[in-house]
Amino acid sequence: MKLETSLVQDVTAAGLRVVVDSVRAAVAARGRAVLALSGGSTPLPLYRALADQDLPWERVWVAFGDERFVPLEHPDSNAGAALAAFLDRVPVPEEQVLTWPILEGDPHASAEAYRGKLEGALHGFPTFDLNLLGLGDDGHTASLFPGTGAVLQPGPTLALRAPDYARPGGWRLSLSAPALSDSRTVLFLVSGASKARALREAFASDTASEPPTSAELDACPARAITARERLLLVTDVAF
Ligand code: 6PG
Repeated sequence: MKLETSLVQDVTAAGLRVVVDSVRAAVAARGRAVLALSGGSTPLPLYRALADQDLPWERVWVAFGDERFVPLEHPDSNAGAALAAFLDRVPVPEEQVLTWPILEGDPHASAEAYRGKLEGALHGFPTFDLNLLGLGDDGHTASLFPGTGAVLQPGPTLALRAPDYARPGGWRLSLSAPALSDSRTVLFLVSGASKARALREAFASDTASEPPTSAELDACPARAITARERLLLVTDVAF
């Protein structure tokens, strides 16, 4: 899959255009748009900007590529952050906001329950129209962390222990690399000089002739992510 890289000054404006265009194209083509959103801080300005977009929200379903194993109202909740930033402010039907179930004390059951939730709401496990992903300084994406073997797990939904250095640590819930890649468009939104090394490891090797080995993917999980139609990188970092 060829990577399309956009080096921009304003990742929010560039990312917003991709999201808006993807939603409109999906609704026009299939009558609905199925999104998978990322956590972290980079997409928050984009989420806030989405609240002011005139989109067919009643035709939009929103899932989350990963989640921290905390209740929705916890400050670390990815879904909680997206709800506050825009989902509570646009007319997406509540039953179309597909948050990870947090089943007290049982992350594995929570991950399995999410598989059922997505299959039930979308009449089968979805191919996303747009999957928005971030990139950690260490090359993680969603909650697939390096050196944990998570990137090699088929999933589609996983319960994973974040490494001790991760903030927040503890249990995470994540779509697997194949599930994250089962999207018409995948958009990596990456900002800040601290991401330069991870960008090089994840995307500069894209020109390598041989496919990466399992060990190489485990070392930089973002390398494992592909897309059905378009793999996009929007960044303000020349790498
Ligand atoms: C999460 C995210 C994670 C994030 C990266 C980048 O749950 O934290 O899904 O994969 O995208 O850690 O985070 P920043 O955008 O805050 O740098």
